[in-house]
Amino acid sequence: MTQLFSVPDRVKQGSTSPIQTPDQYREHYLRAAADPDQYWLEQAKARVKWKKEPTLGLAGDYHGVAEEPISWFSDGTLNLTETCLDEHLKERAEKTAIIWEADEPGHSKTLTYRELHSEVCRFANALRELGLQKGERAIIYMGMVPEAAIAMLACARLGAIHSVVFGGFSAEALRDRVRDCGAKIVITQNEGRRGGKPLALKTVVDQALTDEHVVKHVVVFKRTDTEVEFEEGRDVWWHDAVSGVSDSCEAVECAAEDPLFILYTSGSTGKPKGLVHTTAGYLTYTSYTHEIVFDLREEDVYACVADVGWVTGHSYIVYGPLANGATTLMFESTPLYPDAGRYWNLVEQHKVTIFYTAPTAIRALAAQGDQFVKGHDRSSLRVLGTVGEPINPDAWRWYYDVVGEGRCNIVDTWWQTETGGICLTPIAPVTETAPGSATLPLPGIFPVLLDGDAHVIRGPGQGKLCMAHPWPGQARTVWEDHDRYVATYFSTYPGYYFTGDGGCIDEQGYVYIMGRIDDVIIVSGHNLSTGSIEEAVASHPAVAECAVFGVKDELRTQVPIGLLVLKCGVETDPVTIVSEVVALVREKVGPVANFKQVAITKRLPKTRSGKILRSALRKLADGVDFPVPSTIDDPAILEEIRIDLQGLGYA
Ligand code: PRX
Repeated sequence: MTQLFSVPDRVKQGSTSPIQTPDQYREHYLRAAADPDQYWLEQAKARVKWKKEPTLGLAGDYHGVAEEPISWFSDGTLNLTETCLDEHLKERAEKTAIIWEADEPGHSKTLTYRELHSEVCRFANALRELGLQKGERAIIYMGMVPEAAIAMLACARLGAIHSVVFGGFSAEALRDRVRDCGAKIVITQNEGRRGGKPLALKTVVDQALTDEHVVKHVVVFKRTDTEVEFEEGRDVWWHDAVSGVSDSCEAVECAAEDPLFILYTSGSTGKPKGLVHTTAGYLTYTSYTHEIVFDLREEDVYACVADVGWVTGHSYIVYGPLANGATTLMFESTPLYPDAGRYWNLVEQHKVTIFYTAPTAIRALAAQGDQFVKGHDRSSLRVLGTVGEPINPDAWRWYYDVVGEGRCNIVDTWWQTETGGICLTPIAPVTETAPGSATLPLPGIFPVLLDGDAHVIRGPGQGKLCMAHPWPGQARTVWEDHDRYVATYFSTYPGYYFTGDGGCIDEQGYVYIMGRIDDVIIVSGHNLSTGSIEEAVASHPAVAECAVFGVKDELRTQVPIGLLVLKCGVETDPVTIVSEVVALVREKVGPVANFKQVAITKRLPKTRSGKILRSALRKLADGVDFPVPSTIDDPAILEEIRIDLQGLGYA
């Protein structure tokens, strides 16, 4: 039987969240199950500043999604920034909206809601001057500076669609995204800073824009004194663009279902999917989940140390917290710079009450020893969150005992880029937690496990995690590729949203996530497709074929391994080929892939119909016993590969 951790009583005091007791959770869950439309309409009306209030809840369903994307609140109109900014000018104008902690320790600055509102309006006016209009796309390729959030909100002010690309992606990855969404404007920095090192953001943008594209302007925020090249007529400094510009800007009226942003995520194949999140449902859902899961209070200092390049940064650094009028912290650095006490220094300095990070960081910090944590005052902390991958019970216990001193609530939040917001999670002051479990669904979320025959597993069991009913925060489509959206999420189990994860449910209904069951791997909390790494590897002229797959790693969850088969007659030294292949992946996918482990092998294990047996490769590398696949063409290959993998320290 799992050990359950109950909730200290003091956390139930002073919160405004509507769900603060197990009874309230049950009541909300049942109400949302009985009438999801009504439940979410109530939330949408209470949380969103509408221009025209909606009367409709959900339209469409998972069966009909191929013909018609689902929609929520579709007769309403709004501008999202009025909820996140203008509304707060009434009572919170001088409240800190954003605390920025720079890469350099000891450097920070704050923006009040009034200041943030002005900056957003000014930058929105500047973007409009540069020609950006409602429905057009802007790519944001920046580090963790407040200007990244300002740029996102400024696009939303105009009804333009932003697509943030993580600063660790390469020029090629950026180029693909710029092209796929047809971006008119790219917003970047001359240089980023991370872990004491520079990030050459503008140089990467220049490399990305060498081929054909429709980008008219590149706006460059000056973060450091480093000089960068400027292309006459195309490039413009942020400070010049906003100089003398009015800080009042009309909030463009948008339909509830107008796209708010596109966020690219890895798929089973190399081409990233541009998931589209729309405006009102996403706003309702991020506001709802942020308040309820973290037990938000007016005086909280909330710190999510993710990057705005990922969905966690969108939903729980920018949109959810700002919709709720919270003080949200943006952190530019890494957990290990200048040492493993950086997060706890952040907590001490800014009196952080809610802290949200990923298991990979928790594991890396636990490995450094407790003294880095204990050297800092953490008495302000109340809620500790984790997201991005399964958290192993040891790391969970360390977070609970050492970081939280046994008095903070841990929320292990399961969700995805596709889900828009948290779906399975403890609710901080309500749910008894169990290390390693994301526990229970939020109201309005109806998870099911399906077995191999697509039957719903009733009671405890293990299967494929699906959702039985839409919720407002769910992505609506893949940018200009609705067929791919339908094929990826709705064709495996008709009538359900298929998450791509395996899961397990215990006797008390607690969900344990077992990880991805497709070719997506999670490296240090970043979701990557083995397909995109394979494409990069295969582009090397000496490579005949290759397989890339994830192998378990204690700190990073998984790391990618590449097996290469060389073309006949290749005379180049294998060591050179391996280092060139590693460099190619760095160039085409980016350092984020952490691709270092490569072996050259004679042949790859395949089915008789020629498909590479990736799951067999994964199991071999993880050292797991498995029956030889019945479809394998030549079982002897497995033994050859085992020896190659042992050369890399696996199998
Ligand atoms: O496999 C699950 C894992 O991360 C995947 C989603 O990745 P991404 O779209 O990049 O979004 C990450 C941040 C929301 C999921 O399919 N995952 C996320 N949170 C958890 C998790 N696995 C286990 N436990 C979690 N709490």
